[in-house]
Amino acid sequence: MDYKITNDGSKTLFSSKYNQAFHSIDDGALSEALYKHIIPAFTLCSQTKEINILDICFGLGYNTFGTIYYILKNNLNIKVNIFSPELDAKLVGSLLNFDYPKEFDCIKHIILEVAKNNYYSDENFTIEMFIGDAREYVKKLKNIDIVFQDAFSSDTNKELWTKEYFGEIKKCCNSNAILTTYSIATPVRFSMYENGFMIYEYQSTIKKRGTIGSLSNIKNNELGLKWIDMEKKRLNSPNSKSFSDFD
Ligand SMILES: C[S@@+](CC[C@H](N)C(=O)[O-])C[C@H]1O[C@@H](n2cnc3c(N)ncnc32)[C@H](O)[C@@H]1O
Repeated sequence: MDYKITNDGSKTLFSSKYNQAFHSIDDGALSEALYKHIIPAFTLCSQTKEINILDICFGLGYNTFGTIYYILKNNLNIKVNIFSPELDAKLVGSLLNFDYPKEFDCIKHIILEVAKNNYYSDENFTIEMFIGDAREYVKKLKNIDIVFQDAFSSDTNKELWTKEYFGEIKKCCNSNAILTTYSIATPVRFSMYENGFMIYEYQSTIKKRGTIGSLSNIKNNELGLKWIDMEKKRLNSPNSKSFSDFD
């Protein structure tokens, strides 16, 4: 896999298998993790003492490591358990030598342990990786408060964007769970909506918009989220539908 330097200076990889980069080059790998996933999720999440996060999928681990960086930087008094599947064991092993941004210098010991053992735990953070298929792993989880939905796009990684997949995600979530994703595709939004997620559009300080899915009504709108009326969308474009495992 080839290295790419993204616009905020942080590095990512380009996957020839999926024919796409792990992060938006325009937005930046670290910025995407922080502004599309971590900051909106922590702003909206109502849990205050202990949070369970499902990071789909681990890849280079920016969302997982970025979460720990964010908590330490903001002195948040919170315990976080992160669960993250990843198909590519070789990639995870290679992260021992990945050139992460300087923001991650203070958590180098955590990165090394995760790359070596696929696991890390101290009194504040637990990271449990699963080497294998996310579809199998999510069936074993429960009480998830936050989902970072960060698979490759649906044209090459479709099994992680279908209605049936989001049905499994919903089953492992708490009733007020928040899901963050970079995808703004209408079929993806229907896949989430048809499982009970309310759909919101989010424009952060970075270029690209994202989608927030919420299993309960969002009351605090300090992020300026725009609610998307999916029933109206269906009426206006009757041919638009969710992705299915059976398409
Ligand atoms: C866009 S990258 C994830 C980027 C990641 N969040 C990061 O910060 O680097 C998608 C990852 O999903 C993994 N993947 C794709 N399909 C999978 C599946 N069915 N189960 C587990 N991992 C999968 C790929 O190997 C790849 O590492």
